[in-house]
Amino acid sequence: MTDSKRSLWLIEKLYNNRSLTLEEYECLVSERNDEAAELLRAYADRVRREIYGTDIFIRGLIEIGNVCKNDCLYCGIRKSNASCERYRLSDEEILHCAVEGYGLGFRTFVLQGGEDAYFTDDRLCSIISQIKERFPDCAVTLSLGERSRESYERLFRAGADRYLLRHETADREHYERLHPEGMSFDNRMKSLAVLKEIGFQVGCGFMVGSPFQTPLTLAKDLKFIEEFSPDMCGIGPFIPHRQTPFGEKAAGTVEETCYLLSIIRLIKPNILLPSTTALGTVNPVGREMGIKAGANVIMPNLSPVSVRKKYELYENKICTGEESAQCIECLKKRMEGIGYTVVCDRGDIKK
Ligand code: SAM
Ligand code: FES
Repeated sequence: MTDSKRSLWLIEKLYNNRSLTLEEYECLVSERNDEAAELLRAYADRVRREIYGTDIFIRGLIEIGNVCKNDCLYCGIRKSNASCERYRLSDEEILHCAVEGYGLGFRTFVLQGGEDAYFTDDRLCSIISQIKERFPDCAVTLSLGERSRESYERLFRAGADRYLLRHETADREHYERLHPEGMSFDNRMKSLAVLKEIGFQVGCGFMVGSPFQTPLTLAKDLKFIEEFSPDMCGIGPFIPHRQTPFGEKAAGTVEETCYLLSIIRLIKPNILLPSTTALGTVNPVGREMGIKAGANVIMPNLSPVSVRKKYELYENKICTGEESAQCIECLKKRMEGIGYTVVCDRGDIKK
């Protein structure tokens, strides 16, 4: 079989079985070509439409702080970046973002930030319960890194519904090349399992084109997604940040990200899959391309404009100057322009 024939055969198999072997995933990733990408896109769009129609769910992203005790080698807000201007939002500021977001039609709020001891369980539980009391029809998603089981349990009891924790890579050696000593692959994976056990809707994910990534490490990511069966999966291109050890590395591409989005949609047809801001940063119509490839979520920024530039995970991040209302209007038009509709809904996974 030629490479191109083999990819098409693998796509048919994935479409029918929702599963491939590790070797088959590796082959599908390494033999990416235009014909395969188009077939994947068409299948991914079909299965997504069968479940979610043309609905696009929105999540209001509130970047609660950029102080972090970790030193991930790729990340612009890593603790060693002395030129990063640090901030923390107050409880009132966070609540104010949610109030503004609710008025704009958001029914999910994502609280994201670095791993920062300032955000204690007590503080977070109080913020979560205030949001849930005021907006009982909304979901609260957390994306605050690794915490203890006890902490996750308290946050869940306070009303948090979902937790996003990208696994970053399902290959131990690759994980160790992306993170400093002291950060543990096992703990990352354990945290995801614990979150699921507790009852959170859980999201994993990884960067596309991260340094030292190979078709085999990507195949392991895909196999992990198939087996872990997360409710959400965040993938976006790696984008270098000058003030990090990976400042000179190449960025990931829109094409490969879209290809992987389509594969993930076929592995788990009902998954909630964001078309990320990073995708819109590497290409002006990257988010539209992500949606067409099978994504069904977008996460506009609800953070106060005064801090948006400071939450700089990577360079040239888009939407750092606009007010939240402008951002959502712009995205609604962009989605309508390609035949999809932003809906005012919590956007839970359809089982
Ligand atoms: N601290 C939390 C955590 O570790 O999950 C949440 C914040 S962390 C900045 C969110 C995600 O940003 C990471 O999981 C990583 O995949 C992504 N990220 C960090 N640096 C990036 C870069 N240079 N390019 C693209 N994505 C990046
Ligand atoms: Fe902590 Fe990136 S190193 S959020």
